[in-house]
Order: sequence, then structure tokens, then C-alpha cells
Amino acid sequence: MPEDRSQKTEVRGQKTAVISHQSSVISQQPAEETKDYGLKKDRGQMSEVREAVDYGPWTVDYGLRRGVCEMAAQIIKGKEVAQQIRLELKEEVAKLKEKGIVPGLVTILVGEDPASQVYVKSKVKSCGEIGIESFNHVLPADTSEEELLNLIEKLNKDPKVNGILTQLPLPKHIDTNKVLLAIDPAKDVDGFHPINIGKLNAKKKRKEIDQEGIFLPCTPNGVIELLKRTGVKLRGAETVIVGRSNIVGKPVAMLLLAEDATVTICHTGTKDLGEVTRRADVLIAAVGRPKMITADMVKEGVVVIDVGVNRTPEGLCGDVDFEAVKEKAKAITPVPGGVGPMTITMLLVNTVKSAKVAAGLI
Ligand code: GUN
Repeated sequence: MPEDRSQKTEVRGQKTAVISHQSSVISQQPAEETKDYGLKKDRGQMSEVREAVDYGPWTVDYGLRRGVCEMAAQIIKGKEVAQQIRLELKEEVAKLKEKGIVPGLVTILVGEDPASQVYVKSKVKSCGEIGIESFNHVLPADTSEEELLNLIEKLNKDPKVNGILTQLPLPKHIDTNKVLLAIDPAKDVDGFHPINIGKLNAKKKRKEIDQEGIFLPCTPNGVIELLKRTGVKLRGAETVIVGRSNIVGKPVAMLLLAEDATVTICHTGTKDLGEVTRRADVLIAAVGRPKMITADMVKEGVVVIDVGVNRTPEGLCGDVDFEAVKEKAKAITPVPGGVGPMTITMLLVNTVKSAKVAAGLI
């Protein structure tokens, strides 16, 4: 309702009004359906103007934190979104158990890389929390490629195993591609097998992807789920991905295409990175360089998803200069607590999906 809109923007100051009209990624879901996960905890501490504003079919959260003229970004709390999905999954797993179906995930860790140990431990723990059975194979760093391939072959044949995850990176003497190829595509819950990648690339729409037994790579799928559950409209949005890796940049591009977004991928050969990133309604940073996306590289009202996890002497940080960029963004993920929790959650989603496919339920 236009009259309503002008009234509200006047009260909230000029800057907010301009940004709200420029934005092209506002959710068009009915207000009831728009899930505002990022704000739940903060609401009580916010000033009275920090309420979601409902303009007819649009729900827009301006995130007004510090007075009537200033606008701060909605912090997209991946941890809370992930928690919600896990609750949904837990119920689904309980129902499967009533039918005698227990999803099973095998993790394989070769060597003693401390970061990998932490990741695997977290995956095993998460499985337990929602009722997925997990089996963890910890192999010494000098395990031969043949031994690893033999184990995978055995697991491929085991009906109790719905998902096989070989934690990367593998020791240098093992050919990672050979190992990923050895995993049965029907148990490839990482979504790294060329068959699953190829199937994803061959589909046009998300609906077609979901209808087939394709396993989507966990981080890219988590990024899309986070955007959708935050109410970000992707159809027609200018999306810019910084980073062209096989495990994030490229599959995220495919998934955004399947949502009818316009997609640009930037990389080390991009001539004027800032010129491209400033076009983004939705910016995905996945390069692994601490705080490389600075405030001058984004436009007002952008939605920023930071996939980077960089260990620096000051602690963990993303690829985005969070403190500066959040002053211009409409919504932004923190690091940690943004994309990270979604990755494991999508692994659980894939494992449950695999169990359902194996039982003939999909
Ligand atoms: N190492 C870091 N992230 C991942 C992941 O998502 N899957 C596997 N298999 N290894 C990883």
C-alpha cells in the first residue's frame, strides 16, 4: 500500500526510505510465511522502531538499531536456521525409525590434521543429536591409497551405510579425485562425485534438482537454504560470487541459476572486482582471504553471505570486512555462526535423503 509506505519511511528517516525502494531482493512471501531467524534473540534489546515493517505482501526488516536515521544490517544467524532445520530432521528421522529405517553415515578421517579432527567430531556429534547412526573410521596418515579404496568399496556394498564422507584434505600421497570417484554416487552425501555435479549442472530449475536423487554439495546448498529461509528473493536478483572453487563458487552459481537469479562469478582474472561486486543485490564471498570484501566494494542494501573461514592471529574471520560492510548491507552473515553451521546440517539432510532413496520412499 503506497500511502502506508510513505508514512512509515518519513518517520524512519530519508536514508531508510531510499534503501527500501532501491532494494530488489525483498521477500515477497506473505508476512506470515517469512521466517526472520536472524532477529529472534536480539528483539528484546532493540529500540521500538526495530520491528519488522509489514507492507501488504512484503515483509521488510529494516533492522533499525541505533535511532531513527541509521540503518544496520540484519545479522543472518546461520546457527539458528541450522537448529530449526535439525529439529525438522529429527522429527523426520524419528518417523523413519518407526518404519525400521535408520539413516547411517560413515566418516573417514585419514591422518591427524587438527582442523579435520574437529570437523569430523562435530559431524559425528550432530548425527547423534538427530538420530542418525554414525561410524567413524580413523586411519593413520600412512594409509595407502589402495587400503582407502578397499574400505570405500566395502562401505559402498554395506546396506546399513547411506552416506560416505571422506574428510578432505587427504594426505598428499593419496589421489583425492580417485577417492571421490570411488564413492558410490548414491552414497555421496558430500555431493562431490562428478555424477552428482554433472546432474546438478544439467538441470535447469531447482524443482527438477529436488525431484531427482541428486546430492547437492553441503556448503552451497546451505548458502541457498540460508538465503531462502531469511526471505531473500533470488528470482531476478543480481548475484555475484567471488571465488570459483569446485566445492563452493561453481556449485553455488548453478544453484542460483536454478533459482532464476542472474549470476556473475569473479576470480583472480576479474579486471575490476569492486565494479562487479557493487552491482550485487546478493554477494557471496568464497575466496579464503581475510576481510578482502571491503565496504567500498558493496552497494547499500546488499545481502552478503560470507563463506570464508580464515584463521588469523586475531581469531576467526570471514572474507568480508564484517564491521564495515554491515553498515551498508541489508543483511549479512557473521563468521563464525553464519554459513558454517549450515554445512553440517546439509550433510545430515543428504544422509536422511539417501536413506529415504534406499528405502524406496523417494
Ligand atoms: N573438508 C572441509 N570441508 C569438507 C567437507 O565439506 N567435506 C569433506 N569431505 N571434507 C571437507
